[in-house]
Amino acid sequence: MAAGMRVLGIESSCDETAASVIDGNRVLSDCIASQVDVHCAYGGVVPELASRRHIVSVLPVIATALSEAGVTLDDIDGIAATAGPGLLGSLVIGLQAAKTIAMAKKVPFVGVNHLRGHLLAARLLDNTGTPIPEFPYMALLASGGHTAIYHVRNWNDIECLGQTRDDAAGEAFDKVAKLLGLGYPGGPVIDRMAAQEGEMEEFPTAFRQRDNYEFSFSGVKTAVAQRVAQMGRPSREQVDAIVRGFQKSVVDILVRKVVMAARSRQVDRVVLAGGVAANDGLRRHAAEVCATKDLQLFAPPKKRCTDNASMIALAGLLALQAGERSAMDLAPRANWPL
Ligand code: KG4
Ligand code: ZN
Repeated sequence: MAAGMRVLGIESSCDETAASVIDGNRVLSDCIASQVDVHCAYGGVVPELASRRHIVSVLPVIATALSEAGVTLDDIDGIAATAGPGLLGSLVIGLQAAKTIAMAKKVPFVGVNHLRGHLLAARLLDNTGTPIPEFPYMALLASGGHTAIYHVRNWNDIECLGQTRDDAAGEAFDKVAKLLGLGYPGGPVIDRMAAQEGEMEEFPTAFRQRDNYEFSFSGVKTAVAQRVAQMGRPSREQVDAIVRGFQKSVVDILVRKVVMAARSRQVDRVVLAGGVAANDGLRRHAAEVCATKDLQLFAPPKKRCTDNASMIALAGLLALQAGERSAMDLAPRANWPL
């Protein structure tokens, strides 16, 4: 990776307003204005409230990212912003901020696919010393909006082998947490609870057959709802047992599929990406299985699994270095597959 190009990345696809400055693939700053306090009362992201908060946060978070990187806009060689997929009313705010700065400073601008950002996040260098994968690698991308397996041959040569037919894994975590009254976002709280040893309910997993890279998480969510209805008012111990069984069922199938895909394509590197990749149970199980199959596992720091702007800056920098430019009339894309 050629160092020396400095890119400002902006991310506003869902409920986090984020900005980052990178130099080559080295992260100089990575700032997030979280909206969790706005949405937690509703058990999920309220799009209209998200847009309103983005417009409040976007310029301050950019200013913080520049100052933490020790640079000004005059030191920036290019600007990247998430153009989709995501909530339209949220995307439009980061995108418009990015285009406006690019036009004013006369620097190149590129709109970035959010999923590509997640898939490249493992290649960012920072001071944590986390090893970064070379291409090619097999990636599990599991977030609040997407769950899929990707064969990443290069930054711009990415094949989707299969994805969820219904809910995303993170969505299942959030819905189960809501059902059990555990708060939002559901992933981190379920992860913490599931880490305690104890009884475990059993829940089904879909599409376990070989060479199938699709997922389905609506079944396990319904099974949890039915179990809760049978119990009436589940006790704390019963909730713990449900949560452990739910997490195990989701983690098992996610790891099983990415490992199966790596072996079938003879790829020896496995990468975890997306908010659910912050799950300790998933990271632990993936490490155990990869070790037994001679696969090298790359799990980026948790803050690079959940939504962040450094991953958008990196996807943008690679596109800008390849000569890609987006026009000033680029509009956000709610559904933009890779
Ligand atoms: O990638 P992300 O920040 O945003 C999207 O692009 O969707 O992912 C957010 C999702 C949420 O559903 C959240 O519950 C889940 O990632 N998540 C987790 C954990 N941390 C965040 N899921 C399981 N375990 C976690 N520790
Ligand atoms: Zn995301």
